[in-house]
Amino acid sequence: MSEAKIKWISGPVLRARATGGFQMREAVQVGENRLLGEVIRAEGDEITVQVYEDTTGLKPGVAVYGSGRLLSVPLGPGLLGGIFDGLLRSLTDTGTPYVLPGLRAAPAKSFRFAPRVQPGDRLGPGAVFGSVPGGAREQSCLLPPDAQGEVIGIVEAGEYAEDAVVLRLKSPAGAERGIAMRQDWPVRAPRPVAARLPNNEPLLTGQRIIDAIFPIARGGRAAIPGGFGTGKTVLLETLAKWCNADVIVYVGCGERGNEIAGVVEEFPELEDPRTGRRLMERTVVIANTSNMPVSAREASIYTGATVAEYFRDQGLHVALMADSTSRWAEALREVSGRLGELPGEGAYPAYLSSRLAEFYERAARVRTLSGAEGSITLMGSVSPPSGDFSEPVTTHTRRYIRSYWALDVRRAQARFYPAIHPLQSYSEDVASLTGWWQAQGNAQWPEWRRRFLTLLEDQARLERMARIIGKDAMPARAQLTLLSADLVNEAFLRQSAYSETDRFCSPARQTAMMKTLARFIEAAEQALAAGATPDAIAQLPVLRRLARMGEDIPEGEPAKFRELETAIEQAFAGLEKVSSSELRVSS
Ligand SMILES: Nc1ncnc2c1ncn2[C@@H]1O[C@H](COP(=O)(O)OP(=O)(O)OP(=O)(O)O)[C@@H](O)[C@H]1O
Ligand SMILES: [Mg+2]
Repeated sequence: MSEAKIKWISGPVLRARATGGFQMREAVQVGENRLLGEVIRAEGDEITVQVYEDTTGLKPGVAVYGSGRLLSVPLGPGLLGGIFDGLLRSLTDTGTPYVLPGLRAAPAKSFRFAPRVQPGDRLGPGAVFGSVPGGAREQSCLLPPDAQGEVIGIVEAGEYAEDAVVLRLKSPAGAERGIAMRQDWPVRAPRPVAARLPNNEPLLTGQRIIDAIFPIARGGRAAIPGGFGTGKTVLLETLAKWCNADVIVYVGCGERGNEIAGVVEEFPELEDPRTGRRLMERTVVIANTSNMPVSAREASIYTGATVAEYFRDQGLHVALMADSTSRWAEALREVSGRLGELPGEGAYPAYLSSRLAEFYERAARVRTLSGAEGSITLMGSVSPPSGDFSEPVTTHTRRYIRSYWALDVRRAQARFYPAIHPLQSYSEDVASLTGWWQAQGNAQWPEWRRRFLTLLEDQARLERMARIIGKDAMPARAQLTLLSADLVNEAFLRQSAYSETDRFCSPARQTAMMKTLARFIEAAEQALAAGATPDAIAQLPVLRRLARMGEDIPEGEPAKFRELETAIEQAFAGLEKVSSSELRVSS
């Protein structure tokens, strides 16, 4: 193996004079403690290495050992339910949320293995050869994407270490190869798929402002920009809890160590509300604490994507949450600074944008090599300094995402949650998801959605006017628009993550709520045209019931929405009688 000697070192980055060839992205070990590192530049006989562990104590002259392999992470059945650092070293097996120096990978555990093929079978790349039953869900064991051939041996059902050979394969060229349940994969390389599929199914989140207004498709990409304390983490955790993905990969890139300790402690406690089991059973957490070098944080989002692809390839729908990509970008900036690279906008390196692209491009709904359907949906929070969305990380991220959920400081201050701003947010997946809503019996979805958004746009404009001339001096139509827009906000967009009834809203209940709300808006407009005053409409008691329908009408009670609609009809019928008698009196 090639070796090198450290010449220069600064934080997590070192340069070394090499004897023998190193390749780009090669995994290396540094010093006596065999700290894990990666070659990030090779020029002549000099290599530059970023070290994924604390480099305190390293000095010029210390040896760097090559491995001849790309920096890789081990993918296997032991991932589900685990908490790892940016290079998939277990944070729980060591008994502390800190990685021991030089620890390479999680120690192999044993799993029950059930064979799915027999000697003589011919397998293609990515084929399923076995399964691991138990846990929240059965996991599949797949051939690596570069392996194929005839099965010449497979173990019987039983318990095996995840790194033990369970399958022997003879390649078409005649070479024999042993395959284990756990396989290494280079961190930064996307895993191959057979085909990309259109993103025409939603990832349902149970959050109305997302599903019904700014939806995200399975295979989609979303950004959650938001200033300090606006609810990014709570939103991502809510999505992790409720979205209809099979597996959640949660990447916590914290700035403060205690923030991540929170993730490490809280996540295992969360309950999967669908199954009543622990949410952790279908989750992989990747966490970076502040005592880990920035380089591990930089690697962590790619590691997260690689883990997500591993589950996607088993024919599962995966949601990957990264909180926060700004902290990741800061790690990129710090390493770049140490390398003496020319800083770009905001002192981030010029390749910030392409790195973001490399990450978000890994979202997709796909046909896997073995012919199954799987998907990865990516959601990343962005924490712009002083909440300024024109800074580089936010603006570059916008180029690669399709759903943009902008958290608003004023909404958050008013404790209006989720604080997603309806006028600053958008989704480019609306057209491709219209068919899905139609198939659910909600053919009017795009129309209602447009109607609600138009009301909110008008509200912003009219509120400026109201501040100048006073609300009472506004035309009746404008007053009604303000009333209806308020109702859209209160009755539909507002949804408490902590309400037993309303923290989750199914597509059927969302449809019923949209329909009821649209019915009210329409009836109110007709009443206004027939002579009712905005004040009289605002005083209808049914308005209160409408504003509280999310809290009052639980899942699976469609009759209650029909009752409410009848109440709306009756209220307006009463209003018409009153206003026509008023007309008679005054004439
Ligand atoms: N959906 C919600 N329902 C109720 N309360 C919420 C909701 N979202 C956020 N909050 C409140 O706001 C607080 C801050 O939220 P959160 O930690 O998610 O913000 P953040 O944007 O991640 O902050 P930071 O910038 O520090 O990472 C929470 O502790 C909670 O009290
Ligand atoms: Mg946060």
